[in-house]
Order: sequence, then structure tokens, then C-alpha cells
Amino acid sequence: MSLFETFKQRDVTFRNRIMVAPMCQYCATDGVPDDWHLVHLGSRAVGGAGAVITEATAVSAEGRISPGDVGIWNDTQVAAWKRITDFVRAHGAVPGVQLAHAGRKASVHAPWLGGGPLSAEDGAWETVAPSAIAFDDTWHVPTALDDAGIAKIVADFRAGAVRALAAGFDLVEIHAAHGYLLHQFLSPLSNQRDDRYGGDLEGRSRLLREVVASVREVWPAHLPLWVRVSATDWTEDGWAPDDTVALARLLKPLGVDLIDTSTGGLVPRVRIPVAPGYQVPFAARIRAEADIPTGAVGLITEAIQANEILQKGQADVILLARENLRDPYFPRTAAKALGVTIEAPKQYARAW
Ligand SMILES: Cc1cc2nc3c(=O)[nH]c(=O)nc-3n(C[C@H](O)[C@H](O)[C@H](O)COP(=O)(O)O)c2cc1C
Repeated sequence: MSLFETFKQRDVTFRNRIMVAPMCQYCATDGVPDDWHLVHLGSRAVGGAGAVITEATAVSAEGRISPGDVGIWNDTQVAAWKRITDFVRAHGAVPGVQLAHAGRKASVHAPWLGGGPLSAEDGAWETVAPSAIAFDDTWHVPTALDDAGIAKIVADFRAGAVRALAAGFDLVEIHAAHGYLLHQFLSPLSNQRDDRYGGDLEGRSRLLREVVASVREVWPAHLPLWVRVSATDWTEDGWAPDDTVALARLLKPLGVDLIDTSTGGLVPRVRIPVAPGYQVPFAARIRAEADIPTGAVGLITEAIQANEILQKGQADVILLARENLRDPYFPRTAAKALGVTIEAPKQYARAW
């Protein structure tokens, strides 16, 4: 495997293995993506990425992290997304959407406003979670979901997938990482339920498995479905790499095509050994032990580094977040570094 080798899943061919990772922009109004999102995502498609995945896209208004999050719970949002997916596809990238619900980490400010919980005057809303345990001392105490609430979560993800199809996306990624709702169900630190959605790994993974199965029913068989996980909570008694391998084995037969392998986010103030490629070993382990394609992400910034991960068989695709912000033309930069020639947009041909 190498960075500029195509990647085929179901009926979708990615032109290379460089994916734009989901990145919140916190600047939508009523969940509707606007010109910022078109230019931001569109320029990364023009830049040559294999796929451009939207930021966490809320399946319900209360599932947003901040008031500025994008969503996919109504038809106005679908129409706005369609303009963006048309553009991204026209420029050779696969348009992907990350379907998300923030759970107990919802109802907060954008990072540039401090990122803390909204006050009532700011328009705070009621948050939900597996158990009534706040993320941190000053954060909202969530309401523990009852059976009807859980059924609504599954229905909202399913409806989100139906709308994603109408909006022209060719890839769905379910966000089960970074301490958001589905991860909150997985981790014993945030899930202290004693019903069938809690307890052992089978119980704690039930909601995610129900969401995946329900989405797969409406998301066409010819289109890929990815799940983003946090492979570890980086803390004792939390969700651990062994759990993630076990989870990946459960997800594969449900029609999940790739595990996008991140870490952390469930609890604050944990020590994370951040270094170049620090999450790659988790992607490699899941790939080897659960026999499922994986995506590597996290401090991957160089073409040679990214290519080596693929060559060593540690992952099938590379997702880059911040490097794609610094350089929307990262795929061109990488091609040059690796001595590969890639097509330029015809409008720009005289520059390359
Ligand atoms: C501005 C910003 C917003 C992000 N928003 C999301 C998000 O919406 N969903 C998600 O799964 N990860 C999100 N992330 C995490 C990235 O997708 C990625 O996993 C992380 O930044 C590590 O990759 P990097 O070192 O290439 O930046 C965000 C990261 C940044 C920098």
C-alpha cells in the first residue's frame, strides 16, 4: 500500500489514501452549513484529498457540541449540504459526513469563546448521556437516557443517514470517539447503567451496535460506512485497547468497512503521550487482530511518514486534520515529496 494508490470500498473508489479528517468549524447558523463550509471543504477537494469528511454533524439539535455546529436533522440543512457535496465530488474527492451526537459534552461554547458550558442566558440546553455524570466539575449534569430516549438516538442517526444520502454524501462515518455520546456508552467511566445498555462490553456497546445496524439498513450497500473510535481513554478503569479490538470484531459483521482510530476525550486531565504518529499502533493492532481496514490519525504531518504507515501495513488510509488546515494542498505537497505526479485542476494547470 502507498499514499497515492487508489482505495476501493464497496462501489466507491478514493483517488488516494489521504483523507481530510473531521474538524468542527463552530460557525454554522441553526446547523446549516454556509459559504465558509463550502470554501473550507471545497478547497480541500481541489487540493487533491481522497475524501473530505465533514466536521461532527449533529443528528439532532440537542446533539450539537456548540450552537455553531452543523447538523443534518432537517431539509434546509440537506439542501445546503448538497451544494457542498456536489462541489467536492466534482473536484474528485469522496464527500463524507461524520454523524454525531455530543451527549454530555453538548451545550458548550466554541473554543475561541473558552469552550466551557453555556449558561442559561447563552441558550444552554438539556444534555443527555448514559448516566447522570458530568464531564467535569463545572459542566452540565446530563439526564440519563431512558428507553424512549435511547430509541430516539437510534432513530436520529438513522434519519441522519437517510438525509446524508439525499444530501449527496458517499461515505458515512459514525462518531463514537472523543468522549461524545456513543463513546460515553462504551466507557465504564461514563456508563454506570444497570440495564441492557450498561454492564459488560456487550451491554455498553449495544447502543453503538444498534446505531450501526440501523444506519446500515438505510445506507446503501454500495456505499461505505466507517466508525471513528477512541481506542483508549488513557486512564485506568477506562475503555482500553483490548475493548476496542473486541468492539471492532463486533462491528465488522454489521457492515462497518473501516475503523478510524483515534483516542481519548472521555475524561479531562489525562496524560497522553502525544508524539508523531502516537495513535498509529492502535490502528495497526485493530487491523491485525480484528481483520478490518483501519484509518490512522493524529500528528501525521509528513508524506514520508504517512506513506510508511501504509507500507508497513499499519493502516489502510491516513486521515490528516491540522496539516490539512495548514496546507489545503497537502496531497500536492505529498506527491512532490514522494516523486508522484498527480493531476492538477485544469484551471490551475499552468502552475504545475
Ligand atoms: C479544529 C479541529 C476540530 C476537530 N473536530 C473534530 C470533529 O468534529 N470530529 C472528530 O472526530 N475529530 C475532530 N477533531 C480531531 C481531528 O479529526 C484529529 O483526529 C486530530 O486533530 C488529530 O489529527 P491531527 O494531528 O492530524 O490534527 C478536530 C480537530 C481539530 C484540530
